[in-house]
Parts: sequence; C-alpha cells; structure tokens
Amino acid sequence: MADNTPSNAPQKPGLFSGAIKVWKFTLGFIAFSIAFWLAEFAYQFYFASPGDFKASVIRSLALASATFISLSLLSSSIFKFWPKYARYWTVRRALGVAGFLFGALHVMAAVNFVFNGDFLAPYAYSLNPIVNPIIFGGIAYALLFIITLTSTDWAVARMGIWWKRVHRLVYFAFWGMIFHFLLTNPPALMNIAGYLLLGVTGLALAGQLYWYIYFVLGKKTTTKGAIVGVAVIAMFLITAYLAWFAGK
Ligand code: HEM
Repeated sequence: MADNTPSNAPQKPGLFSGAIKVWKFTLGFIAFSIAFWLAEFAYQFYFASPGDFKASVIRSLALASATFISLSLLSSSIFKFWPKYARYWTVRRALGVAGFLFGALHVMAAVNFVFNGDFLAPYAYSLNPIVNPIIFGGIAYALLFIITLTSTDWAVARMGIWWKRVHRLVYFAFWGMIFHFLLTNPPALMNIAGYLLLGVTGLALAGQLYWYIYFVLGKKTTTKGAIVGVAVIAMFLITAYLAWFAGK
C-alpha cells in the first residue's frame, strides 16, 4: 500500500528524542547528579549520621531527591525573572526527572531497610498524614511518578492541553513532599544538607508565590489557574495549622 504521508509533514518526536538531542548536556547532568548524591552520602556517613550505612543511604537519597525537585521549581521562577536564560529550560526537566529517580531509590531503600521489604507497612501504622507523615511522601511519590512518565517531548507532542493540566499536579506533589520531610524526622534536617534543602525549598516557595500573585494581579492567568493556586495555598496553610495544632 502506498504511503501518503507528505515527506515534509512534521515528525512527532520519539520517546527519548529530547534527551538525545542534547546528549552532551544529558551525560554531563547524569555525572553531576551522581556526584551530588555521592557528596550527600559522604556527608551523612562521615558527619551527620556517622557510620550508619542504612540511614546514610535513605537520607542521602531523600535529600538529593527533595533538593533537586525544589531546585527544579526554583529554576522556573528564575527563568521567568531572566527570560534570556530561558533557553536553559531543559535544566528544569532534568532536575525534576533526576529528583524523582532519587525519590524512587529513597523509597526502595526505606522499604527495605526500615520496613523489611513490605511496601504496605509504611501506611499500615496510621492513615492520618499528620500522625504518619509517610502518607505525605506516598502522595508526592505517586504524583511525581505521573509527572515523570509524561516528561518527554514524546508526551508533550501527544498530550496537547492535557500535558499542562497533568503537570500542574507538581504543586500538589510539592505540598506532599514538603510536609513529608518537615514532619517525618525534623532533627535529621538540622545539618548542612538539611539547611541546603530548607533554603532552596524556601526560595522555590517564595518564587512560586511571587509569580502567582504577579500573574493574578496582572490578570495574566486563567480562572482555572487562579483556582488551582488558591487550592494549593489553602492546602499549605491548613496542613501547617493542623501540624502546629497537633504539636508537631
Ligand atoms: C518523592 C517522594 C519523597 C521524597 C522527595 C522524600 C524525601 C524525604 C526527605 C527529604 C526526608 C528527610 C530526610 C532526613 O531524615 O534528613 C525523608 C525521610 C523519610 N522518608 Fe521520604 N520522601 C519521599 C517519599 C517517601 C515514601 C513514599 C516513603 C515510604 C517508604 C518514605 C520514607 C521515608 C522515611 C522512612 C524517612 C525517615 C528517614 C530517616 O530519617 O531515617 N519517603 N524523605
């Protein structure tokens, strides 16, 4: 049968064509990510939780994951401030994907070392996220999984309007992630690696809030976008209040 596709018809990108197109950056970023995690691990193993191999693996992966995800959100605020750097937009995606992959390894390590390989055990203790903040982590993980799966040029080209809708879930994932690490083991954040995470997370939150207010006041956002923003801010405030009320 004859192929009627015109030879100049736009080609839809392949699954990994985004990463392959910038392969030098991709390789460099993978090397940087591994170096970052090794530094986090060494810091945990030699200084923060000396000699505790299992805790160092769980925490270094956790901190690398959350730091990268916060940096990913922070980078989008920075690119809005300085649009001339927006050509580096691919950094945002790379940070997000690497952050999720570290998160997946963190979950595997936590399930293996803390919960003896039982995937459901972390949730059996209590379904109240203030009492059992691993629930917050589970929500963040599920949402980030969906976002990462749809983070390829392949998905962008095929999902149309749904791509933006699905990727707005990142704000809910961010909410889950922040309350997970703030409530799970706060003393373990009182060191340089924890301060780095708290610092970039604070900056990412401030940047997101700044641009949200800027767009709403300038009527540059859709009604749906404005409603999602109000919902996310309400979730942050209510959860913070409930945690404070519970003495956390
Ligand atoms: C992508 C989602 C997630 C991120 C970004 C994340 C990140 C973090 C961070 C930053 C911490 C604090 C590390 C520290 O103690 O200094 C932490 C602690 C912890 N997380 Fe997660 N987490 C996620 C999902 C999960 C899930 C689904 C589980 C369930 C198994 C889990 C289990 C734990 C445990 C057991 C701790 C306490 C570790 C300890 O301090 O010894 N996390 N997580």
